[in-house]
Amino acid sequence: MFSFFRKKEDKSFGEVKKEEPTDYSDATGIAEYFKNETGVTFDKQMNILNNKVMTFCKQRGINSFSKLLSLLDRDADIKQELIDYLTTNETFFYREFKQIEELVSLVKKDSSTVKIMCAPSSTGEEPYSIAIALLEAGVKADKFKILGIDINSDALNKAKRAVYKQRNVRNLSDEIVQRYFYKQDDKFILKDSIKSLVEFRLINIFDASFATLGKFDYIFSRNMFIYFDAQTKARAKGILQGMRKNQEQKIFFGHADEL
Ligand SMILES: C[S@@+](CC[C@H](N)C(=O)[O-])C[C@H]1O[C@@H](n2cnc3c(N)ncnc32)[C@H](O)[C@@H]1O
Repeated sequence: MFSFFRKKEDKSFGEVKKEEPTDYSDATGIAEYFKNETGVTFDKQMNILNNKVMTFCKQRGINSFSKLLSLLDRDADIKQELIDYLTTNETFFYREFKQIEELVSLVKKDSSTVKIMCAPSSTGEEPYSIAIALLEAGVKADKFKILGIDINSDALNKAKRAVYKQRNVRNLSDEIVQRYFYKQDDKFILKDSIKSLVEFRLINIFDASFATLGKFDYIFSRNMFIYFDAQTKARAKGILQGMRKNQEQKIFFGHADEL
């Protein structure tokens, strides 16, 4: 009797799908998708990628990489979550400060208002460093505009909050910290006077919308190319070069970026 009803149930609810088998064996498709979308390559770190994406899937009840791939194509939220999860956002104030000093001296020589872009800005330390260094050099706040862009939405939310830890401000002198931050317990909270000098946008440098940001006098693009392969670096470089107001102006890359 019981089996009769089971059978009947199976027939009438034929659309009840069989559970797809769990399969986290090969993340190659995810690596390709991620590289196409962001430029970031995991070619030499496939084991790391495999483990990370498996954790990502398990946390969301996605039982295979192929299922994740099909979701990525139609679910913008999952796509953003994966980008936030897989991009590396390490940065700190006054990183490679010599380049910031070079920028400051160029801006001081410039007679007009300048537009500066940090692509990528990650959690904000780089564009805020530029703002602080310019003010410290006596440049008036209305002489410059700074835009920070990044593909990682978590990083940008942190940038907008601008609440940092000791390790983020380790390169700053006590005087600078006192002038530009409030100290609360173990937190360093950037003052609004600096926060208001930087705008942030969530954007992928490979998206067509990147070009709509306009042209910039100075572009910083540090420590992003390290995640790209040679071909992607060349493509990204061309895109960034096209964003300069003056084609003679060099772009500030990080020393590890190896163009
Ligand atoms: C290590 S951080 C560099 C931050 C800062 N420029 C510095 O040098 O300290 C690299 C950043 O590149 C961003 N990124 C990677 N691919 C990107 C893309 N296609 N478009 C925009 N940002 C991207 C990541 O989200 C990450 O925040």
